[in-house]
Amino acid sequence: MTQFPGTPEYTGLNTPIGEEYDLASLVVEGHIPTDVEGTFFRATPDPAFPPYVEDGGAILSGDGMVSAVRFVGGKASFAMRYVQTERHRAEAAAGRALFGKYRNPFTDRPEAKGLDRTVANTTPVWHAGRLLMTKEDGRPYRVDPHSLETLGRHDFGGKLRSATVTAHVRIDPGTGEMFFYGYEADGLASTKVAYCIADRQGHLTREQWFDTPYCALMHDFVITEHYVLFPVYPTTCDLDRLKAGGDHWVHEMSRDSWLGVMPRYGDVEQMRWFRGPKGVSCFHLMNAFENENGRISVDQCLSNVNAFPFIQRASGLNVAPSETGGRLARWTLDLENGSESVTETVIGPPGDFPLIPAPRQGRPYTHAWMLTMNPEMRGPPMAGGPVGAMFNMLLRLDFTGRPPQALALPPAHCFNEPVHIPSSKPGHEGWLVTLVDRETGPSDFEHAVWIIDAGNVGAGPVARIAIPHRLRPQVHGWWVSAAQLATAA
Ligand SMILES: [Fe+2]
Repeated sequence: MTQFPGTPEYTGLNTPIGEEYDLASLVVEGHIPTDVEGTFFRATPDPAFPPYVEDGGAILSGDGMVSAVRFVGGKASFAMRYVQTERHRAEAAAGRALFGKYRNPFTDRPEAKGLDRTVANTTPVWHAGRLLMTKEDGRPYRVDPHSLETLGRHDFGGKLRSATVTAHVRIDPGTGEMFFYGYEADGLASTKVAYCIADRQGHLTREQWFDTPYCALMHDFVITEHYVLFPVYPTTCDLDRLKAGGDHWVHEMSRDSWLGVMPRYGDVEQMRWFRGPKGVSCFHLMNAFENENGRISVDQCLSNVNAFPFIQRASGLNVAPSETGGRLARWTLDLENGSESVTETVIGPPGDFPLIPAPRQGRPYTHAWMLTMNPEMRGPPMAGGPVGAMFNMLLRLDFTGRPPQALALPPAHCFNEPVHIPSSKPGHEGWLVTLVDRETGPSDFEHAVWIIDAGNVGAGPVARIAIPHRLRPQVHGWWVSAAQLATAA
């Protein structure tokens, strides 16, 4: 193919942009709070070259682009660059796609053999003065936070053994350590998971490997003050299927889910596996914390089936969005009563992109934010993103008994994942910064950065900053304060 296909993965909001650009002195409507001083980094998949194979998972394989929304002294600017992965450089040199289906190297062109397949398109992670562009199928690429120049692959000074690193790390607010893992750590369809800790200086201090009950799509995990927990949901991989040119993932409704738990500074031999419901799926966990009497609660955006249409198709499933049973679920496990399964309670509505204040990571918490669909919206949600539909309502959930707050967007608008910025004012909950897309015509869109009072989301944005350029849907973002940027390694 010399042109991008006319399929949903490449049209409308998902139309490839493929431009690197800088926008200085953006027009600000409203007032940027003084707390909002730093950079909002965003990861966006954006394929540089049309595919040569049909691939439902293509939306997840777009070349990683890193963008920076910079806030300095009440002014805002924007910059966007490709992450210069080995894959992107090879394809740019060839002038065409060399890599085939999502996470299936058996579909690659011969020139791609031996090259790093990752596209670093999922989360910009900031730790120990380094900005890392991550994707769970490979090792991260380090990017200069000021110039957005790619500095190369990051392997913790040659110490990391795992071939993969998750895009969902957890940073302990007390110790400053980064907890992370890599699944399929030694290759395709492997059950090996590497569990790792980097200290606050970014040195890899621990890497231990363990086996999961089966090879699963392990997108996220959680920590508490004393434990680390690895959820396993039955979206599975099979090497023979890959060799036959098939999809990396299928979802198996008849298989158990699992939750592995071990002391976070313990030995993987101590891992205990608790059984969860069959067939469930989750991409993002909100938080986890320890209760009294040896119980641990794990809060997650759960559904009864994997929500990705391309994974459902590969699995022979076709579950309507209204039938997926999405909910914010709390799984509680008891380390002391001898039980071997989790207990579920529903603590919130369907949705995704959960967000908590960084100081509450792994601790009991009173509130959180997430994106959801407005149940009162008439008409379909905006099409776009990997699941095919974009969220149109922002929620502040309260776990102390107070009612939720909601910010519902008008029709033809949608949210990308927000980041949270703490406030310097005691008692103030800080700010949320997010990209809002607006459909203005069949293939026309406008984009703006919104700044929202995190404790009063229903009031709408305190500032809106138009980005006068097309943007593709973001995956995840990360806030890096000016003080943190000043410590860049
Ligand atoms: Fe994610």
